[in-house]
Amino acid sequence: MAEKISVIIVSQNDRLRELIGMFLNEYENEFNIIDGVSLSSDFNYLIDKNDRAIFFIESTDDSTEYIKNIYDNFSNSKIVIIKENPDVTFIVNAIKAGAKEILGYPIIKSEFTAILEKIKLQFSGEYKNQDKCKMITVFSNKGGIGKTSIASNLAYELAQTTKENVALIDLNFQFGDITAFMDLQPSFDISYMFDNLNLLNNDFLLSTMEKYKDTSLYVLADSPYFKPSKKITTKQVTKFFEALKKCFSYIVVDTDNTFDEKTITTLDLSDIIFLVTIVNLPALRNCQRCLGLFEKLGYDSKKTQILINRYMENDEITAPDVENLLKKKVYWKVPNNYFALMASINKGILVTENNPTSNVAESYKGLALQVSDSVFRNNLIKKFSPEDGRRVNKILEI
Ligand SMILES: Nc1ncnc2c1ncn2[C@@H]1O[C@H](COP(=O)(O)OP(=O)(O)O)[C@@H](O)[C@H]1O
Ligand SMILES: [Mg+2]
Repeated sequence: MAEKISVIIVSQNDRLRELIGMFLNEYENEFNIIDGVSLSSDFNYLIDKNDRAIFFIESTDDSTEYIKNIYDNFSNSKIVIIKENPDVTFIVNAIKAGAKEILGYPIIKSEFTAILEKIKLQFSGEYKNQDKCKMITVFSNKGGIGKTSIASNLAYELAQTTKENVALIDLNFQFGDITAFMDLQPSFDISYMFDNLNLLNNDFLLSTMEKYKDTSLYVLADSPYFKPSKKITTKQVTKFFEALKKCFSYIVVDTDNTFDEKTITTLDLSDIIFLVTIVNLPALRNCQRCLGLFEKLGYDSKKTQILINRYMENDEITAPDVENLLKKKVYWKVPNNYFALMASINKGILVTENNPTSNVAESYKGLALQVSDSVFRNNLIKKFSPEDGRRVNKILEI
């Protein structure tokens, strides 16, 4: 049996603690309830920092620092805030600090149960965002620019942050690098999937794609051995991603440098395209061309986002220069760190695993949070009137 999930109730309110205890008692033996703690308790004595835990915190307007502290110290925990009539600003600040859910007070049992069930599924890795899958394609029409580094680390961090199922797809059928970056020898490769499109359902995908270590990341790449490439049609690519979208909360696609039929169909189907560039004139000119092409393809300007790789603050060309040239905001900058990248590539593990405190790893983590925040934001907005929804949108603007 899976280990019990610790539940820590931080509240001075006896009735509230009693009520939560009662609700939890209906789940025989699934939870280890830790009661009688106060705001000043040191939780390190009660649980291990890696334990799966749920914190229910009855909160005041100025609890943001407190929430952030717990979020930073207990990476496997989920924080649920309980507050009477929370307003929009409070909710946004709490979520930014690390809270996963907000419960109104007095607690409604059905809301409490829904949140608990969702967290249980997240802990077991079976949670699938009901709303929509977000498909992110990392593209550039130049090689060696950082697409594979970004796609693989972003996918890994998305899985770690959200605990939801994430698919990482290497669309480069012939010379893909993902297997090398992550030291994988997949038993089933992407060509196999395209030959068996009629079989693709959730069970099939989850059992044939390569689960990465003990995370919720599933990888699909071609075998490390060279194979002659086959022609893939728009219809096949569409069917393939439609099946994946039903199964995963996020799909991250690594591409090669060509604008062929399979890449364009993939770009069409994506919710976000990260157009990767480095800061030099030839690369930026290429980027301009791609933006022009995306416009011709009718993509919304929000769909295409600029991502600068290997950024150096003291570079001759700065991020504002790039924005002026491309007439578009830069979405994210990944710093230059040759040694961290090379050390991890040579070991066949991701930078975020090999050197999690390096500036590049922090940057990939931030990017994953930003991308996952948008899903959060969409869910959040639905709970508000259109006017408040717009406010939330503005505060969390990306
Ligand atoms: N942020 C970075 N800082 C320094 N070197 C990087 C960075 N990102 C990628 N690289 C290096 O650039 C090279 C190409 O990266 P890769 O991800 O394979 O690019 P692509 O997939 O676009 O061909 C690799 O050797 C990698 O180590
Ligand atoms: Mg690559």
